[in-house]
Amino acid sequence: MSERGKTKFQIDLRRHLRERNVAPDLVHLICEIAEASKYIINSIRTGDLGVAGTSNLYGEQQLALDVLADRILTKRLQHSGVVGNVLSEEADDIICVSNNCNGLYSVAFDPLDGSSIVNVNLAVGTIVSIFGGCNLLRPGREQVAAMYILYGPRTTLMYSTGEGVHEFGMNQLMEYTLLQENITIDQQANLYSPGGLRNLFTPAIEEYVQKLEEKGCKLRYSGGFVPDINQVLIKGKGVFLYPHLQGKPNGKLRLSFELNPMAFLVEQAGGAASDGHGPILDRVPEGKDDRAPIFIGCKEDVAMAEDIIRRYEE
Ligand code: F6P
Ligand code: MN
Repeated sequence: MSERGKTKFQIDLRRHLRERNVAPDLVHLICEIAEASKYIINSIRTGDLGVAGTSNLYGEQQLALDVLADRILTKRLQHSGVVGNVLSEEADDIICVSNNCNGLYSVAFDPLDGSSIVNVNLAVGTIVSIFGGCNLLRPGREQVAAMYILYGPRTTLMYSTGEGVHEFGMNQLMEYTLLQENITIDQQANLYSPGGLRNLFTPAIEEYVQKLEEKGCKLRYSGGFVPDINQVLIKGKGVFLYPHLQGKPNGKLRLSFELNPMAFLVEQAGGAASDGHGPILDRVPEGKDDRAPIFIGCKEDVAMAEDIIRRYEE
């Protein structure tokens, strides 16, 4: 088909990035990650669902798939020619690819988020955070790009380089083509996704959840962070929370690999992401393993969480 005849549905990822004047090395990096995801989806579809016999830094048993997804992505990044440091949720340490990070990017990622639900065939994903230079322990607001790939019944890719959020779908040729650009989120939710054990919710979180239900929000929780955030972005009317719990003041999810990239995407879509006191993206990480509570999605409902939490602390 001639260039003229192309509809927006045939715009592929590389072309979309180039048309937005994204720096060529960042285009290359994002496309390399997209390439790696093709091998990850293949492993998910056909690979061994058993345990690898190893555990990660957090004491979680690794699946053969966790290890494989990590290797696929790490290798691709190491050989990309544009990456300084790599930090994977499945690795013990930051991998230094180049000592001179001038003009390079550093990448933190969760290669296979939701691996505890992969054996029941629910949707899982890859989450990626990209900074310029070497330092990965900076506030999320300094990310130059964030993205995720969702391995559901269909494979989709969501990215932002700080100019809106754009969704791509994998076609039969395994190419990512544009589905929607400049995705936006409404002010108020009609669905909510609450992570964590309800009997460990604090009174503030109990009240919050009750308020959400009273105003008609339906519970829609899959147990996978990527599909649950994708639901918030695509429906545009949702709020996801994995709050602080009694005995777990920082909740569960990790700042570098999970929260920062999702907060970047959701803010870019006009939503908000808070740790209950202020924006996730303003948190200064103390270490690569930081965790934080999160309330993310429609702005007014994230603000409501902050208001209720503040009131209980007075
Ligand atoms: O990686 C963490 C994760 O699997 C997320 O995908 C998901 O949102 C969360 O944990 C689910 O945790 P829980 O089982 O405690 O609800
Ligand atoms: Mn994860």
